[in-house]
Order: sequence, then structure tokens, then C-alpha cells
Amino acid sequence: MDSAYRYEQDTLYCEQVALADVASREGTPCYVYSKSAILRRLRAYQEAFGSTPHAICYAVKANGNLSLLRLLAEEGAGFDIVSGGELFRVLKAGGKASSVVFSGVGKTADEIAYALDQGIYGFNCESEGELALIDTLAERRGVTARVAVRVNPDVDAATHPYISTGLREHKFGIDIAEVEAVYERARALKHLSMEGVSCHIGSQILDPAPMLEAAGRLVALAQRLREKGFDIRHLDLGGGVGVPYRPGESSPSITEFVTALCALAEGSGLRVLLEPGRSLVAEAGMLLTRVLYRKRNGKKEFVIVDASMTDLIRPALYGAYHGILPLRRAHRGVIRADVVGPVCETGDFLARGREIDNVLPGDLLAVCTAGAYGFAQASNYNARPRPVEVLIDGDNYSVIRTRESYDDLVRGE
Ligand code: LLP
Repeated sequence: MDSAYRYEQDTLYCEQVALADVASREGTPCYVYSKSAILRRLRAYQEAFGSTPHAICYAVKANGNLSLLRLLAEEGAGFDIVSGGELFRVLKAGGKASSVVFSGVGKTADEIAYALDQGIYGFNCESEGELALIDTLAERRGVTARVAVRVNPDVDAATHPYISTGLREHKFGIDIAEVEAVYERARALKHLSMEGVSCHIGSQILDPAPMLEAAGRLVALAQRLREKGFDIRHLDLGGGVGVPYRPGESSPSITEFVTALCALAEGSGLRVLLEPGRSLVAEAGMLLTRVLYRKRNGKKEFVIVDASMTDLIRPALYGAYHGILPLRRAHRGVIRADVVGPVCETGDFLARGREIDNVLPGDLLAVCTAGAYGFAQASNYNARPRPVEVLIDGDNYSVIRTRESYDDLVRGE
């Protein structure tokens, strides 16, 4: 649990706010985020880079709430986007287009045009078709687009198969063995400035070794491209480090990871870009939920809560583990139970076979480490309004997204 969260006399606090008070006032399910926890991690990245020229481009997909984007922009972060919608969010939040890199394997012409018109920093391109399209759209506008080709370095990230991206068999990037020929052919595209190389080998990586190996391969590639006359100026190394979800799980230290990256890039004069998402916001966030019922089927014990896979899909989708804590410790002993939501799917669980406090209907629980890919992946399945989001700052909090209403559910139909 992040140090912003702690028990005081059996009551769980975030910063100076008792989470049970937030849940009572704002209702459940409810996402809460600690401002100080987010800023502490951003600063860890910034400070570790020291004098190495760099940009920390927050991966908006992890959590695109406007208030969080504004907070990060004010503290000097840039942004990594993967859609026109994410660019719209960044601009709406006051982020600068010039701080934005556009990643993703399937950018549409409309999205590329929007990004060019707004003047983003650059594109991480994933195919020759995309290079050609960006060139055409840049020519029409009389501009030059800054481009890094996303390289597939063929490094195994050893993470969940759905979020591992750096192997030849994945849809992402261009094989490192073929990429130099791609740069050569791109010389013909006069409205592209081929000045970067990029990669991203996966997310939730707990062993930094494969990330550093990929980074090393990219530095060497940048050097080879320079020898061929390309003015390579930046290196985009993709997402940040993984985070601990399970008790006892350890994750790479941001400081040590970035220091190792800087050592690899030292002397190259390359500007190093990083696109951390999860490591900035995951541990800063919790999902608050209320126990609706207890129930036993055969030998199995169920705790039915008002949050579900529509609010946090990670357990259902990736078999992910999220810690579950009571907002008030009642000292009634522990039980082993499945913590499940109201959605009509057996896959709708937040935890299975988990030892938790012996809760009663009405009790409040926190699902931990939920700040990244939580609300961002929430849905309206079963016509469930998406939850309220709250940002906690010291002894204050503000609602940064209201709970959806039934009217919100049918808007546009
Ligand atoms: N850059 C690119 C190109 C990415 O595809 C991603 C994540 C990131 C940066 C940010 O990576 P991070 O620092 O957050 O590890 N929904 C999944 C995670 C999907 C990650 C997709 N790409 C989950 O809940 O675990």
C-alpha cells in the first residue's frame, strides 16, 4: 500500500481524509486518488533523469481524467496518446500539443490530421503504410512530421501475454532486423523527419532486465542509423516500470531503472523519452465499494459488493490480483471468500478465494492499486453508470468526475 494510505485507529485514511467519510458522502463504487502519491512518483522520474535531456510523457490510457492530466501537465509532464480522443483530453486539460507523442498501431487519417493540425511533438510509427499516410497528410498541410519508428526488438518482457508487446509474433512495431531498410525507404518521404527510434515491450514488467536489454538494442540502432546519415535525436523507450499488486511483490525502483537507462544513453546526446502510465497512478488509487450481501453456495463463501468488472475489469480480464482492505477494521476475524460484483457473469469477480476481514452487509472495502487501468477500462455493461472519481489533497478532496446518471446512460440513443 502506498504511504499516502494508512490506518489510524482502525480507520483507513488517504492523506488526511478518512475514506469511509468519502464513501458515505459520495456513495459507492467510488475511485479515490492521492495527489501526493502521484506527484511523488512523477518527481522520482524527473529527478532520476538529472541532467540527461528527457521527457516524461504520461501514458494517458492508464487514467485520462482531466484533473489528473492537468496536475501532471502543471508539474512538467508531457503525454503519450494512442487516439484522437486522448489528444482531445490532453488539450482540454491544458496540456501542450508540443509535449505529445502519438503511439499506436492503427492511427486513422482523421486522427493523424488532428494531431498534425495541433502540432504534436511526434509520431511513433508502426508500419510503412502509416509512414506514407503521415507523409501525405503532412504534405497537404505544408508541414514536416517528426517521426520515430517503433521497433520490435524481439525481447520477451515476461509479463501477462495480453500486455506483452515486444516479440516478433506481436502486432506491434517493426522487426529490428528489418527496420533499417524502412528508414532507408522513408528517405523518399519528404514531409517526414526521421529523427527518433522508439519501442515498448510491454506493461507491468517487474524485472527491469528485458527493458534495459531493449533500450540497449535501441541505442545501438540509433548509432547505426546515424552512421547512415539519419539525424537521430531521440529515443522513446515506452512505458514505465511495473508496480507491486500482491503482498510481498517487489517492483523495480523508478530511480534505479531510470539511472540505468541514462547510463545506456550516456554520451549519445540522445533525448530520452519515457511513457510511464501505471507506475505514476496505480498505487495512488483505490476503488471503494460497499458489501451488499454475504452468501454461501455449498462450501464456497461469497461477499457480494456493489463494484464489479464494469468498474475494474483487471481481475476478470488478466486474472489480476488487487488487495482488498476494510475501510474500518472491525476485528471480527477473517474469512476466505470470493469477492464478486452484481454483473451477470461468473467472470465478475474482484478477488477469488481471498482471505479478508469477516465483513457484514453495509461494510465498506477498498480495492487497492486501482488508479491505473481502472476507471479507464470501466464500461456501462448491464447499464451500470460509471463510478464517481475523487482526488484527495491533504485534508481536502474534490470530485473530479461525477457519478454517471441514468440519463448519461441513454444519451445519444
Ligand atoms: N506506451 C505504450 C506504447 C503503451 O502501449 C503503454 C501501455 C504504455 C506506454 C504505458 O505502459 P505502463 O507504464 O502503464 O506500463 N490494461 C492493461 C495494461 C495495458 C497497457 C497497454 N500499453 C492492464 O490493466 O494491466
